[in-house]
Amino acid sequence: MEYRTLGSTGLKLSALGFGCGAVGGLLVRGEYPAMRRAVERAVELGINYFDTASMYGSGQSEANLGAVLRELGAPVLVGTKVFLDPPDLERIEEAVMAHAEAALRRLGRDCVDVLYFHNFLGTQQRQGGKANAADLEPVLRALQRLQEQGKTRYVGFNGLGDTEAVHQGLGLEGFHAFQTCYNLLNPTGGRAAPAEFPFQDYQQVITRAAGQGKGVVAIRVLAGGALSGSQERHPVATAQVGPISTSPDYAADVARARRFSFLVEEGHAGSLAEAAVRFALGKEGISSVLVGISSLEQLEAAAQAQAKGPLPAAVLGRLEEVWKGLET
Ligand SMILES: NC(=O)c1ccc[n+]([C@@H]2O[C@H](COP(=O)([O-])OP(=O)(O)OC[C@H]3O[C@@H](n4cnc5c(N)ncnc54)[C@H](OP(=O)(O)O)[C@@H]3O)[C@@H](O)[C@H]2O)c1
Repeated sequence: MEYRTLGSTGLKLSALGFGCGAVGGLLVRGEYPAMRRAVERAVELGINYFDTASMYGSGQSEANLGAVLRELGAPVLVGTKVFLDPPDLERIEEAVMAHAEAALRRLGRDCVDVLYFHNFLGTQQRQGGKANAADLEPVLRALQRLQEQGKTRYVGFNGLGDTEAVHQGLGLEGFHAFQTCYNLLNPTGGRAAPAEFPFQDYQQVITRAAGQGKGVVAIRVLAGGALSGSQERHPVATAQVGPISTSPDYAADVARARRFSFLVEEGHAGSLAEAAVRFALGKEGISSVLVGISSLEQLEAAAQAQAKGPLPAAVLGRLEEVWKGLET
C-alpha cells in the first residue's frame, strides 16, 4: 500500500481509503461479521483511513465502525463529519460542538483524526440544506475549539456544492483538509474542463487546495457505482443513488461510463471499476481515494486496482476525447 501525506498535517493516509458511507453500505446495512471481516482485511491490506459521518445510516456507520475497530484493536485513522440542519445553522458553534460529542460517543472514541463539516456549500443564503461560505467561519471556530480540547487532531470541510462557494471556503485559513468529487465522468476538480462540458466545473479545486497545503480526500471515485458500467446494485448498497456533479440520474451516468470501455477492451485495465480507481489515484494532490464498499470482493478489487498504480499516461489523450464528447 502506498501512503500519502494529508496536506500539511503530517498524517500518512493510505492512498486507498475505506468509505463507510451509505451508498456502498456495508458499514450501515451489512451483517456484523461481514463488516468485521472487511475492516480486518482492509487493515491487512494496509488501508489505514476509514471515512464515516454522522449522517451515514443516522449514526449507524459510526457506531458499527467504532465497535469493529474496538474489537480489532486496529490503530487506524478515522475521519467523521458533522452535518447541520436548518435550525442548527441558527446556532452553528453550539450545534457543531454537540454533534461532534455525539459522534465521538457513537464511535466510542475520545478523539478522531479528522473532523469535517459535512454540509454542501452554497453562495446563496442556505438553500436546500446547504450552508454558505460565511457559515464556515463559526464552524471553524467550533472545530478549532474541539481540536484544542483534544477531540479531533485536524479539521476539514466538504468541497461540494456551488463551485464559487467551495473556492471561497478554500480562501479561509485554518482548515487542514477537504473532500471533493473526482472521477472519470467529472475530473474538473483536477483538470481544466473542456468546452461545453455538461457537468459542474469545479475549476481545479483539488489542484488549488493541494497548492495551499490542504489535504484532499477524493470521493465518488466510482460515481456511486455507475463507473462499474452496470446498473445492478449490490443488496447492501443504496438502491437509488443520487449522482453528485455528474448526470441528472444514475442510468445516464452508467450509459456515459460505458464510453470509457475502451480502457478495458484495449487492455489498459481489467474492469471499468479498476480503471476508475486507478484514474483517481493518478491525480497529484489527492491524499486518499475513498471507495464505497458493499462487499469483501469490492474491497479486494479496489486494493488490486491500487496495487496496479495509476492509469498509463498514454491513455490520457483518449480520455480527453471522451470528455469533449460527454455532452451528447
Ligand atoms: N463528503 C461527502 O459529502 C461524501 C459524499 C459521498 C461519499 N463520501 C465518502 O466517500 C465514500 C465513497 O463514496 P460513495 O460510496 O458515495 O461512492 P463510490 O465509491 O463512488 O461508489 C461506491 C459503489 O461503487 C460500486 N463498487 C465498488 N467497488 C466495485 C467494484 N470492484 N466493482 C464494481 N462496482 C464497485 C459499489 O456499487 P454496488 O454496491 O451497487 O455494487 C459501491 O456501492 C463514502 O463511503 C464516503 O465515505 C463523502
